[in-house]
Amino acid sequence: MYDSSQTHSAVENILKNAGHSSVRSSPDALRLPAGTKIAVRDISKVFRTRAGKIVALEHMSFMIREGEFVCVVGPSGCGKTTLLRILAGLERQTAGKVYIVKGDNERTVMTREGSTISRDSRPLTSIVFQEQSVFPWLTVKQNVEYGLRMRGVPGEERSRIADHYIKMIGLAEFANAYPHQLSGGMKQRTSVARAFANDPEILLLDEPFGALDEQNRVLLQQELLRIWEGSRKTAIFITHSIDEALILGDRVIIMTARPGTVKAIVDVDLPRPRQVTDLKSQPAFLDLFRTIWGQLSEEVLKTRELERSQKDRARTRRSDHRSAF
Ligand SMILES: Nc1ncnc2c1ncn2[C@@H]1O[C@H](COP(=O)(O)OP(=O)(O)O)[C@@H](O)[C@H]1O
Ligand SMILES: [Mg+2]
Repeated sequence: MYDSSQTHSAVENILKNAGHSSVRSSPDALRLPAGTKIAVRDISKVFRTRAGKIVALEHMSFMIREGEFVCVVGPSGCGKTTLLRILAGLERQTAGKVYIVKGDNERTVMTREGSTISRDSRPLTSIVFQEQSVFPWLTVKQNVEYGLRMRGVPGEERSRIADHYIKMIGLAEFANAYPHQLSGGMKQRTSVARAFANDPEILLLDEPFGALDEQNRVLLQQELLRIWEGSRKTAIFITHSIDEALILGDRVIIMTARPGTVKAIVDVDLPRPRQVTDLKSQPAFLDLFRTIWGQLSEEVLKTRELERSQKDRARTRRSDHRSAF
């Protein structure tokens, strides 16, 4: 179903992602180890709502190297999307610092503090959302070209780049089709192609295959592996699937129940290039799965407890309210 508010926010996100945050070279940032792409230092995020404060993230810290593929898993509501939105500059952390090392120049470090739109430069980040965020009024090719057009890339070059990624995701025959003519999987492939065509320094993916059926998910994981292994772009991929994290990632960050922070980081030392179907039967894969599930299941149970006590409190409040009359 087409939801205009969703499309509106997708437009807003893409526009914002065409821009850059302020560039600052703080002495602190210059002490980052060589090869660092992202450094998240002690960030917290508090949302203030009418019902009170929600602490989404608390004292979260980690580093990501240039060219690394990092997956993030955590119970639902633990702050994964919030973290990604902060990295994309769509949300501002309440405390702590986010450093992003720009290009090959380790002396130019961005801090995520508000965005401005610049038309001519390469975007720092591109985001792929779980829900389909392709524009219904544009064809596949126009969707893939969108970020490039916003940056003023000339038509011929734009077309060449778009064709390249459309071919890579196997949609060449659908380049001129509109989203309503496509399946859910095809729309997600279009979003992935658009993110790569944008040529961001960092790819941010928020459960992009979460809504797909198993067969389409495996196909898309394989396609993403192939495209990524050709580009080795720094990527952060949020998923609720441990399998998916192990298939794609160099490392997996496991988050705690809310307030979200890093519970553990697991190295995925499975060789590349990877084949989705071969991986799952390897003993090393199964060992890693067990390790991650051991950590994650504790947090999922905590989240359940939290939800139960919230429900109980709400019920008590309702009955207090009734007995007052
Ligand atoms: N804009 C917002 N205003 C208020 N609360 C929010 C907002 N965005 C997220 N939250 C809350 O912050 C917590 C983390 O949300 P989110 O990052 O979406 O979690 P996840 O992606 O891990 O499921 C949740 O409790 C959610 O309700
Ligand atoms: Mg989320």
